[in-house]
Amino acid sequence: MTSTTNDEQIRVLAGKEEERLVNAFFVLYKTARIIEDNNPTFKNQAEALFRLMQQTFELDGMVIIKAIGNRYFVNNRLVKFDDKGISGASTVVAEWKTLGVGGVHFNADTRLEDMQQFIRFISQIRPNSQDINSLTMSLQSHRLSTIQLLSAVAKNEEDRFIPEEVRRQFRKAARSTFFKAMNVVEEVVVRTREDADINISKTKRVVHSLIDHITRDESSIIELTAIKDFDDYTYAHSTNVCIYALTLGVRLGLDRARLSQLGFSALFHDIGKVKLPTDLIRKPDAYDENDWLQMQSHPLLGAKTVLRNLKFDMHSARAARGAFEHHINSDFTGYPRLHHEKRPTNLFSQIISIVDSFDALTSGRVYLKEAISPDKVLKKMQHQMKSKFDSFLLRIFTDVVGIYPSGSLVLLTTDEVALVLTNNDVDKSRPYVKIIGNAEGLLPTAEWVDLAAEFQAHRKIVRLIEPERYGLRVEDFILDD
Ligand SMILES: [Fe+2]
Ligand SMILES: [Fe+2]
Repeated sequence: MTSTTNDEQIRVLAGKEEERLVNAFFVLYKTARIIEDNNPTFKNQAEALFRLMQQTFELDGMVIIKAIGNRYFVNNRLVKFDDKGISGASTVVAEWKTLGVGGVHFNADTRLEDMQQFIRFISQIRPNSQDINSLTMSLQSHRLSTIQLLSAVAKNEEDRFIPEEVRRQFRKAARSTFFKAMNVVEEVVVRTREDADINISKTKRVVHSLIDHITRDESSIIELTAIKDFDDYTYAHSTNVCIYALTLGVRLGLDRARLSQLGFSALFHDIGKVKLPTDLIRKPDAYDENDWLQMQSHPLLGAKTVLRNLKFDMHSARAARGAFEHHINSDFTGYPRLHHEKRPTNLFSQIISIVDSFDALTSGRVYLKEAISPDKVLKKMQHQMKSKFDSFLLRIFTDVVGIYPSGSLVLLTTDEVALVLTNNDVDKSRPYVKIIGNAEGLLPTAEWVDLAAEFQAHRKIVRLIEPERYGLRVEDFILDD
């Protein structure tokens, strides 16, 4: 299968060690304010921090702790940040800003005593009392030449700079996870076809990575769902259905255990297709009645496959139900037909039903010859197909996808053509885009532009355009940088 970033080790996100380091740094910072130098707590905390620093010195030859906006970096690697993890850091960083400080650079010659002395010194400085130049001079007078203060990024620059840097980092990591998820799906499909055991913990792990991406930066992973056209429909499709389902789940406020079950169910929703003849799945022509009958057996086959091949726990029980119910529809017009009791389908099945229809219709594979553009699919789902879905969930999904769904092409007032990457929550009419061409033709290097940025006001979206009219294939532009 096509996968360029699959095994690449991308170090744009900090690991647990770096997370611990930032935490230890701010903990010591706070301690230094309230207790004496020779207090054992201060000493222990300082030694713990220094041990973590030494590991990073060995790896990178320096330790740079930087804060940009509300994100924290160690040696330019973004630390996964949650308020519990680095409590108090935001107060310290807010104070730094009044001093013009944005971070600190320790070089590898820094000794434990230097670091302690530095923390003592900097933690005693009162907000607004000095600027970075006078502080730097003070550091020199303390003979702390191995430690350097870094300037804060100006507010107007911050807005411009952070999204770009952070987005790029998130993007790379998101791609890696996306392809990992596709590989897991491929493995599950192959193993199921052979009736062999499925590696459940690996599958759960990948679902958890997807949850991490979605809760941290939904947009960087959502834009990848515009990838449809890989070797086999099911791999990208199941991954996309999982991502969309989780995004909806996060918006609904599901807890992590439920999200894990939802993502797991979504990954397995079409597993029944594995048991159908490959010729049918890949049939390029329209389906005849017999083809349809076969295809309509995949929900039941899926439920049976899950129950037969997986250990019986909450995850597989939910996955079996999701596989069985995802084509039933809210108005029971789908399949399998329920002849007796028409109970409403489960929440997870209702979510999967919506996101599955969206991805299948925008992919234009299997049942349809042509893909329909994402905006048209949404309209179709809101009108002709309305009764098939839960209206509340569909509204939330519409909000996730936005006015200009990820993967659509738009024409700008500047006569440029851009691919929509993701929505901006603040202004859905001004998404984050990648400009791929102008009046002269395609650009050699695409330009990423946040249309919501103030200095991009001259660029506005005129309308959505059909890629075919310009002879373009959207998938050619998603991974081209
Ligand atoms: Fe299906
Ligand atoms: Fe599906």
